[in-house]
Amino acid sequence: MESWLRNLTRRLAQTPTLNRPYRNAAVSFRRCARTDFDERARLARACGLNVFLFPAEELPGCDLLTDSGTTTMTMSQWSQLLLGDESYGSNEGYFEFKDQIVETFGPEWENRDRLNENTFIFHQGRAAEHGLFKVLARLLGAAGAREPFIIPSNGHFDTTQANIEDNRLEARNLFSPALRRNDPKAEFKGDMDLRALKAMLDDPKLRRRVPLVYLTITNNTGGGQPVSLANIRAVRRLTARHDIPLFLDACRFAENAWFIRHFESGMQSRSIADVVRLVFAECDGFHISLKKDGLVNIGGALVVKEKSIFTGRYPKFQSGLTDHQILVEGHPTYGGLAGRDLKGIVEGLKTVVHDEFLTHRITQVQRFGERIKELCANPKLVMSPVGGSAVYIDIDEFFKDTRLRDADLPGISLTGLLLIAGHRLCELGVYAFGRNQDGVEIPPDPRVNFVRAAVPRLAYEDQDLSALAETIAVLYRARGSLPGIQVTHGRELHLRHFKSRFRFQPRVA
Ligand code: F0G
Repeated sequence: MESWLRNLTRRLAQTPTLNRPYRNAAVSFRRCARTDFDERARLARACGLNVFLFPAEELPGCDLLTDSGTTTMTMSQWSQLLLGDESYGSNEGYFEFKDQIVETFGPEWENRDRLNENTFIFHQGRAAEHGLFKVLARLLGAAGAREPFIIPSNGHFDTTQANIEDNRLEARNLFSPALRRNDPKAEFKGDMDLRALKAMLDDPKLRRRVPLVYLTITNNTGGGQPVSLANIRAVRRLTARHDIPLFLDACRFAENAWFIRHFESGMQSRSIADVVRLVFAECDGFHISLKKDGLVNIGGALVVKEKSIFTGRYPKFQSGLTDHQILVEGHPTYGGLAGRDLKGIVEGLKTVVHDEFLTHRITQVQRFGERIKELCANPKLVMSPVGGSAVYIDIDEFFKDTRLRDADLPGISLTGLLLIAGHRLCELGVYAFGRNQDGVEIPPDPRVNFVRAAVPRLAYEDQDLSALAETIAVLYRARGSLPGIQVTHGRELHLRHFKSRFRFQPRVA
């Protein structure tokens, strides 16, 4: 290339705004207008301010209830759906899915022993969790145990915890000290607290009660924060020493790998695909909701490494899980999914490890978080640095100088007001993770109190998120006059945030 052209292209390459690495191939128009506030206030009251019950088509703004199953699929995925093989047993997608598992996660995940399935397909992540803990609890004899078995994690998701507890096991969150301090300098606040884990495993009485250790990547309950490879390796060393298996809740494995690739020392020359294999070399098994980094709208799986601490300790697990799967999902070669879904997943797993996609995805979420902090002029308002999938608004900080206390559920008030404004977010804090026992509120331990804005993949543009940031800033400036919440139904229920109804506290004149 001539030198003048090289100079020019160098300058062109430095323009600060990166274009999106994709363009829209199909869009859907919204039905409702930004200013339909009266109608949304009526609808919000009619559904008891329960965000799950609000009709999606009535939202003109951002629907950030979840990043799960809300992905816009690519044209390549749609084209694969048309090629779906709907045979009842051993359809084409099944074999492609198993090959893709090996391609994505590494050669150790190959199923050589064909009498024992190692890849279990489920219709979504929690169905895989349900199978895992049900079969494991049966093998452990958990129902008759004098003291419950303990499953430690860097942060269990709510459904994981519920599936653990439903099988009379105990879920424990060992959040990192940096997460508890909300340290803005710590890149990997999703890490497990190694000291706490070591203390637990060094105590022979406690150790005997630990059948499995868990790491959630990224740590959805812990502020959506990434987990470092160093931490994963250290957890592995601690658990392997005592022959305790390590599992990953791998929903956002590619986003987690992006953080390792860009921020962990020694990783910058690696590809995302390489980093993923390094991470998965450390564990014995994983389950995944493919509705996140599978880039699809439905699907989940549980995969065990054939030669591993887990299969050594629980040799009957695979046949037990096969029986469970046949009863509730279907033959192991299709699980709970149509053949076409498997094809879409395979294509999604190929796309999700592209660095340009992940860079766009994660920096979009980060720009959104920065915009909220800037417009509200409060750098502590969101968990920072922002993790890959969502912005977590710190409700303790948001309402710190107001009269609202935990009992007034300001997080629920904020999500209710945002519905009226036309956006949907979700409380993941003292209501979702706390519980009510005999009329007494027990906050989550360790404490978390967020409203989460989970950004669907490939669905929104910066402009949409900016509009939401502006809305949040209006509410933040009005925080002193925002109402608290009364619970009208379900305070004492299990998994209450999915089922409760609320109303705004009447105004004191
Ligand atoms: N594990 C984690 C870390 C999750 O975030 C989720 C779902 C699951 C397991 C369960 O997977 O939904 O396919 O059954 N998280 C969604 C969310 C629902 O909004 O964070 P699923």
